[in-house]
Amino acid sequence: MNTVSAELVGRVREGFARVFPGDPPRLATAPGRVNLIGEHTDYNDGFVLPMAIARSAVVAFRPRGDGLLRAHSLAYDETREAAVGALAAPGGHGWFSYVAGVAWAFASDGVPVAGMDVVVDGDVPIGAGLSSSAALEMATARALCAAAGAPWDPVRMARLGQKAENGYVGMNCGIMDQFASAACVDGSALLLDCRTLETRPVPVPAEAAVVVMDTGARRALAASAYNERRAACERVVAEIARTRPETRALRDVSPAELEAARARLDPQDARRASHVVAEILRPAALEQAFREGDLAGAGRLMSESHKSLRDLYEVSCEELDLVTSLARRQPSCYGARMTGAGFGGCAIALVDARDVSSFCDEVLFGYKATFDLPAALYSCRPVAGARLLE
Ligand code: GLA
Repeated sequence: MNTVSAELVGRVREGFARVFPGDPPRLATAPGRVNLIGEHTDYNDGFVLPMAIARSAVVAFRPRGDGLLRAHSLAYDETREAAVGALAAPGGHGWFSYVAGVAWAFASDGVPVAGMDVVVDGDVPIGAGLSSSAALEMATARALCAAAGAPWDPVRMARLGQKAENGYVGMNCGIMDQFASAACVDGSALLLDCRTLETRPVPVPAEAAVVVMDTGARRALAASAYNERRAACERVVAEIARTRPETRALRDVSPAELEAARARLDPQDARRASHVVAEILRPAALEQAFREGDLAGAGRLMSESHKSLRDLYEVSCEELDLVTSLARRQPSCYGARMTGAGFGGCAIALVDARDVSSFCDEVLFGYKATFDLPAALYSCRPVAGARLLE
């Protein structure tokens, strides 16, 4: 099943012919994602349940013999270049850092990396929390592997994508987004154990639609707030490890153990940790609800997750709270929650598949009455991870 827009592919091919005339390029693509549940758990060694969606980054590429990486972004109408052998971290911000960062991560991990001419574009909205950067990284990784004739190992590539973010781009993210973009399978969400990197496909019941609700709100301070949340989790682990040295991450702390330690913890840190220890249990619970066809139960878990992210982890915002509460008021909605890092971007709703279009109309109408933002609602289905388009 072709999940990449033909219009996008055509645009990238044409752009390549214009910017880098000569032999036609090969094409690699990788999808964005929504996370069904398990939010802010990946960097706590917990579980997540993302699903890749039919919004993608596309990279047209042609290997070069001289070790130069020349890249052009159609979205930014900008060409940048670097010698792959001379990339050094940290590598700054912006679209090129995702392309160059992956080449840097390959080289620093001993993976052969060839020079290339590349043109990049995509239809994952930028800054919406749908992992446009992970999609660009994994499409670049797919292209680099093909250019060097190396096999595609999705788990290793996800690790290298995360390394590029952490080491080169300077974003201290977990592994979920790159993993989903590299390794998701067609037709299923993916339950991922972020400690062992073991996965299990989880089919989404056909009677339910996953609706993306893009609030149109974009938040600039998300990265610093994200790093603060991470630091709070690490402080709690360090305190609990003083009496229980085997504690390596919040994954190792049960809700009861957290309660027992609460008096020793900063109250705000303790609130953050109580979100995480409960949220780590939710992906398996959602999987079970899906397998039993219990959509009401599945929706309840999603709404509980949102409440916890709003009140305990404090990463929601007015726009996400409004769109999810409008969604929950619709009779066809089982539950709704923010997805991704938060502070703006997208929420998702689990909706009766027969009723998607009236659901989208009603929620959008209500949302627009309060916020004059470029909001958009659309249903999505699970697609496969990164691949070559040939
Ligand atoms: C961002 C990060 C992920 C994850 C989510 C929150 O998307 O890139 O690693 O931490 O936020 O669940």
